[in-house]
Amino acid sequence: MKTVVSGIRSTGNLHLGNYYGALKNFIRMQEQNRCFFFIADYHSLTTHPDPAILHPNVKRVLTEYLACGLNPEKSAIFIQSDVPEVIELYLMLNMHAYLGELTKTTSFKDKARKQPENVNAGLLTYPTLMAADILIHNADEVPVGKDQEQHLEMTRNFAKRFNNFYKVDYFKEPIAYSDGTKMIKIPGLDGSGKMGKSEGNCIYLADDPKTIEKKVKKALTDQGPTVQNSEKPECIQNLFTLMDVVSKPETIAFFEEQWNNCSIRYGDLKKQLAADIIEATNPIRERIAELDAHPEFLRKAVARGKEEAQESARKTIREVREIMGFKSF
Ligand code: TYM
Repeated sequence: MKTVVSGIRSTGNLHLGNYYGALKNFIRMQEQNRCFFFIADYHSLTTHPDPAILHPNVKRVLTEYLACGLNPEKSAIFIQSDVPEVIELYLMLNMHAYLGELTKTTSFKDKARKQPENVNAGLLTYPTLMAADILIHNADEVPVGKDQEQHLEMTRNFAKRFNNFYKVDYFKEPIAYSDGTKMIKIPGLDGSGKMGKSEGNCIYLADDPKTIEKKVKKALTDQGPTVQNSEKPECIQNLFTLMDVVSKPETIAFFEEQWNNCSIRYGDLKKQLAADIIEATNPIRERIAELDAHPEFLRKAVARGKEEAQESARKTIREVREIMGFKSF
């Protein structure tokens, strides 16, 4: 049986990118693997969230996790800060993580550009905390979207480096898991590469149908194709990429043909895309409303997850301490 680990930062509502890039794969994997899914609240500290919103954000993500189909009887669902053993592994891995590789990380460079007034050490060492999250359960596979590819590669490097340095074969080198083989990137509606909370271009799972229609209607398009079978510009390709995950194959084929013969009407495509997003996310919205009415279900789910994650994390810390030479008197 494989061990699978994945997490989502506790920054509020989940969007289509979180769901189709990562969560949907988690849900499939929980049927046959030993799964640890957590809410990364330590990670959210890099942006200094207001203490008053930290917990409501964690609760939001947890509710939506469960609404998407994560099952606390099949996976350990827990809050990162409920298992602080990860911080000890983070410290140990940081001793073998080098400034050069950390400053070169794309996510660090992006964030340092976006928040120049707050380039803190947590931001710099974000990838070692993520590696600790994964290695503490000695994961085989990590279902994540394409934007996390580099962090996962660093995780493998940290695992390899630890094994080489201490001459052990302790940590596995975890690989990304995605539906099929290709890692997914869900684009934004503004013609940009990625749907993301900080990009402000998201469709949230909890958005009501009217909001979804409005957002899709406003999506960036161009004047339309003038040459048959031409390549699509990024903003149009993005709409087709969204269709790939929510629409039926015949719907996609219909609009592909219209694109190819230059008869496409973006208004029709957007109407269909919005309807398909609404249909795909309807069951999740219904379940969010149900869970909002039953907070005790959430409490039980994370209490159970915490216990299981803690047991696994404590075992790793005990073994890693031994490998590194810590001894008790
Ligand atoms: P986060 O919170 O940014 O995103 C959570 C998950 O959603 C995926 N995702 C996307 N996938 C495809 N297209 C998109 N537009 C898109 N936006 C988000 C992400 O790839 C991710 O899988 N560092 C992680 C959280 C984390 C973690 C971990 C993940 C902390 N420790 C250990 C796995 C294992 C993050 O910021 O994800």
